[in-house]
Amino acid sequence: MSTLRVLFATSEAYPLAKTGGLGDVSYALPTALRQLGVDARLLLPGYPSVMQQLLLIEVHENLTLFPSVEPVRLLAGFMPGGAYPVYVIDGPKLYAREGGPYQDAAGNEWPDNAVRFAVLSKIAAMFGSHQFLFKPDILHCNDWQTGLAPAFLAYSQARQRAMSVMSVHNMAYQGVFGPELAELFGQSRTDMIRVVKLLGLPESSFSMNGLEYHGKMSFLKAGLHYSDWITTVSPTYAKDIQTEAFGYGLQGLLATRSHQLSGILNGIDIDAWNPVTDRYIVKNYSIDMLADKDENKRILRGKLGLEQAPNKPLLGMITRLTYQKGIDLLVPVIPDIIHEGVQLVLLGSGDKELENRLKQYARLLPSQISVTLGYDEQLSHQIIAASDMFLMPSLFEPCGLTQMYSMRYGTIPLVRRTGGLADTVIDATLANIQNHSATGFVFEEEDSQQLLSCIQRALKAFHRKDLWPALQSNGMTHDFSWHHSANEYVALYQRLLIKN
Ligand code: ADP
Ligand code: GLC
Repeated sequence: MSTLRVLFATSEAYPLAKTGGLGDVSYALPTALRQLGVDARLLLPGYPSVMQQLLLIEVHENLTLFPSVEPVRLLAGFMPGGAYPVYVIDGPKLYAREGGPYQDAAGNEWPDNAVRFAVLSKIAAMFGSHQFLFKPDILHCNDWQTGLAPAFLAYSQARQRAMSVMSVHNMAYQGVFGPELAELFGQSRTDMIRVVKLLGLPESSFSMNGLEYHGKMSFLKAGLHYSDWITTVSPTYAKDIQTEAFGYGLQGLLATRSHQLSGILNGIDIDAWNPVTDRYIVKNYSIDMLADKDENKRILRGKLGLEQAPNKPLLGMITRLTYQKGIDLLVPVIPDIIHEGVQLVLLGSGDKELENRLKQYARLLPSQISVTLGYDEQLSHQIIAASDMFLMPSLFEPCGLTQMYSMRYGTIPLVRRTGGLADTVIDATLANIQNHSATGFVFEEEDSQQLLSCIQRALKAFHRKDLWPALQSNGMTHDFSWHHSANEYVALYQRLLIKN
């Protein structure tokens, strides 16, 4: 069989641009695919951080895509360290601005996100319909920002085209836009049919069996409806999103496509997240040298001004501060957690109110609670390495990566049983301890008291010197690499191509 060609279209990719797990996956999955012999390449927008980190050459100039939207250029280069091809869309008016990929520095969504990501989707679909030199067999789209690509591709007149895969990393973000979208294309606010036409899509696409969503258009729904296959990032989340609670109104569509929907668990980049070689941490360590892990704790406590308390475990958290992550469950029991003799170290950014509430606690008791607001890659590694336990009380979690990073670092995860957390953390029940599978502590309900009980269970185990190292060892020896899942993606791609 000839080499499989895959274009991985994404709105973020580590180390070029990252706001969360999608960035990690967009680097690590194509890398793992390439190791399996797939010609996987990346497509992403030319944000300043991308343009600054890459050496790029022009492969296409003057691509006019939509009315009143500046023409863009397509550039090509190589991923740092990865040495695999990456395509970048150069459109200064769309992407060259300070702030994040989706929001300005104050946390407001960019008002023209619909256009910024319609452009990304359109270029992805042009690759998919073989209009450029690189002609992928598979167009692999990720989240709503690339959701229009399968629609553009489905309506393209191309004789040969890629099969499209839509991966859902988070159903909570859908990219829903109304008639105001017309203004972004230089037209007066008008009806949605006109908007759809401005995008170059047929009128018929604006229907329930298309991209229409409560009278507006949904980029994610477009991807879910028009793609040849849907994946999501854990088997449990694949089931979750077919229910009312997690489907955000799209559960019906997902249920009708359930025979073309699979959950493939994310892996982690085991080179970037390896306690033996991690260049961000002060003292490297391995499963045989766990005493050196404590050295990281001592140094981090010093750096953050926490009391050096050898008998108190350090409970870490690194997270986007959003509703999803269950911070509302944590906040009411912070005093109880501290009372139990646990120190809390949190790194996060997002919702300003959550930021303030957490910061207030840290001010009350800086010797026991450390809260760092902002995004800090180095500190994130240091917290994972230094902490004894890692908390993820998520209300929903498509996959979650930090619990896997933690287990690889001998840091025991405490999680709520949902989505990918349910699929990756094995609760320390007596049976699981006895059969050497236990890797963490799991609680069920969205309930602060249950969260606290979970911490209390973990605390008891922490003080049992016969038990804790066994839990650490179970996690540290587990294979969280991408190898298995990358093979599943290859098998999926091949099935799609054979069917076609
Ligand atoms: P999500 O994608 O929902 O945010 P994941 O667990 O899949 O959750 O991935 C989060 C990624 O983002 C991890 O690599 C985590 O270390 C990183 N991260 C989140 N917040 C921060 C932060 N404030 N500083 C540094 N890294 C962060
Ligand atoms: C999303 C999800 C997270 C997942 C990540 C990568 O941001 O919230 O659970 O791990 O995508 O797939």
